[in-house]
Amino acid sequence: MIYLLPFIFLILVGCDYVEKMFVEEDLLDRPPSQRCGECHQKIYNQWMHSRHSVSWTSGEFVRSSKNRTKKKCLSCHAPLEVLPEKQPVVREKLREEGVNCFSCHYREETGSIHGPYEVFSPPHYSTYDPDYISSKICAGCHRKTYSQWKASGSDRTCQNCHMPSKKDRLIQKFPYMYFHSKKELHNHRFPALKADRKDMELSLEEKDGMVILRVKNTGIPHRFPAAQQGNPRVYITLKGISGGSEVYTETVMLTAKTGIDYMKTKEFYFFPDVKTERFSVIVERKLSYQEKREVLFTADFPD
Ligand code: HEC
Ligand code: HEC
Ligand code: HEC
Ligand code: HEC
Ligand code: HEC
Repeated sequence: MIYLLPFIFLILVGCDYVEKMFVEEDLLDRPPSQRCGECHQKIYNQWMHSRHSVSWTSGEFVRSSKNRTKKKCLSCHAPLEVLPEKQPVVREKLREEGVNCFSCHYREETGSIHGPYEVFSPPHYSTYDPDYISSKICAGCHRKTYSQWKASGSDRTCQNCHMPSKKDRLIQKFPYMYFHSKKELHNHRFPALKADRKDMELSLEEKDGMVILRVKNTGIPHRFPAAQQGNPRVYITLKGISGGSEVYTETVMLTAKTGIDYMKTKEFYFFPDVKTERFSVIVERKLSYQEKREVLFTADFPD
C-alpha cells in the first residue's frame, strides 16, 4: 500500500497540472468584457450594441445623476454582482462598462461563472444555475417592471421576449469551437422590442360629438410604456379624415406613470368639432434615450 502513495501523489498533481493548463485564472477575477469576447465573440458583439453596455456612459444618465454624484443612482448602472431579486451594490473597477459580462455571470459564492447550461468549459469554472432562465435575475434592477410582470401572471419570462434565441455556438474561438455542440444562444442585445397591432385591442365609439378611443393592452405583460427610472413616452394620435383630407388631429401622451397595465383598458376622449368620415389612429413611442418618435402601428376606423 505504502508503495502506491507516490503514484497517487503523482496522479493528483497531474490532474491539477492538466486543469491548470486550461484554466485561465484572470477570467475569474472580474476581467474586462472584451476578454470574455475572445471566445464568446457573438455574444460580446451583441452586448456591445445593447443598452446594458452604455448604462454608465449614457448622456441622460450622466446628466440626471448629477455627473454620477448621486450615490443612490449608481448601483444598477455599474453593478458588482447580480443576484436574483436583490438590488446590486456598485462596483469600483471598470464602471464605464455598465452592466457587463462578469456582473451578470460571476458569483463570488462559488468562484465560478453561472449560466443556464451544464457545460464543459475548461478555461473557466461554470455552474449550472436555473435562476438564469427566470425573470428573477432581472428583478433586482428592473424592479417596477418586474412587479408589474409578476402581477400579470404571465408564463413568459423577460428572457423569452427580450433575449430571443437561436441555435448557434457559444464560442467562436478556433479550434475550440468545434469541441462544443450548438446550443440556444440568447440575444445579448436585449432588444427593447416594439408593441404591434396585435398587442393592443383598439375600439372607437362616437357619442354626442365626442369620440371615445379605448386601448386595451392584451400583449405586453407589463406596463406600456414601462420604466424603472427612464422617461419613455407613448403618443396616441387621432386623425379625422373627410373628403380625402385630414380635418382633425389631436395627440395624447402616456408616460411610465400613466401607461396601460396588462389586460387593462384606458379611455381617451376627443372632441372633433368637424364632420369626419373616417378616423385613423397612430401609435408612436420615444424611448428615454431616443431623440425622435417612431411609429409602432396604425389602425383605421372603419377598417
Ligand atoms: C443583464 C445580464 C447579462 C449580461 C450583461 C450578460 N449576460 Fe450572458 N446571460 C444572461 C442570461 C439571463 C442568460 C440566460 C438566458 C436564457 O437561458 O434564457 C445568459 C446566457 C449566457 C450564455 C449561455 C448561452 C446563452 O446565450 O444562453 C453565455 C455564454 C453568456 N451569457 C455569456 C455572456 C457574455 C460573454 C457577456 C458579456 C459580453 C454576457 N453574457 C452578458 C444575462 C446576462
Ligand atoms: C478561452 C475561451 C473562453 C473565455 C475567454 C471565456 N469563456 Fe465562457 N465558456 C467557454 C467555453 C468553452 C464554454 C462552454 C461552451 C459550450 O459548452 O458550448 C463557456 C461557457 C460559458 C457560459 C455558460 C455557462 C453555463 O453554465 O451555462 C457562460 C455564462 C460563460 N462562458 C461566460 C463567460 C464570461 C462572463 C467570460 C469572461 C469573464 C467568459 N465566459 C470567458 C470558453 C471561454
Ligand atoms: C444590474 C442591473 C440590471 C440587470 C440585472 C438587468 N438590467 Fe436591463 N437594464 C439595466 C439598466 C441600467 C438599463 C438602462 C441602460 C440605459 O439605457 O442607459 C437596462 C435596460 C434594459 C432594456 C432596455 C433596452 C433598450 O434598448 O431600450 C431591456 C429590454 C432590458 N434592460 C432587459 C433586461 C433583462 C431581460 C434582464 C434580465 C435577463 C435585465 N435587463 C437585467 C439594468 C439591469
Ligand atoms: C410577452 C413579451 C414580453 C415579456 C414577457 C416582457 N416584455 Fe418587456 N416589452 C415587451 C414589448 C413588446 C415591449 C415594447 C413596448 C414598446 O413598444 O415600447 C417591451 C418593453 C420593455 C422595456 C422598455 C424598453 C425601454 O427601453 O424603455 C423594458 C425595460 C422591458 N420591456 C423590460 C422587461 C422585463 C424586465 C420583463 C420581465 C419582468 C419583461 N420586459 C417582460 C414585451 C415583453
Ligand atoms: C434599482 C435599480 C436602478 C437604480 C437605483 C437607478 N436606475 Fe436608472 N435605470 C434602471 C433600469 C432597469 C433602467 C432601464 C430602463 C427603465 O426601465 O427605465 C434605467 C434607466 C435609466 C435611464 C434611461 C436610460 C438612459 O440612459 O437614458 C436614466 C436616465 C436613468 N436610469 C437614470 C437614473 C438616475 C438619475 C438614478 C438615480 C436617481 C437611477 N437611474 C437609479 C435601474 C436603476
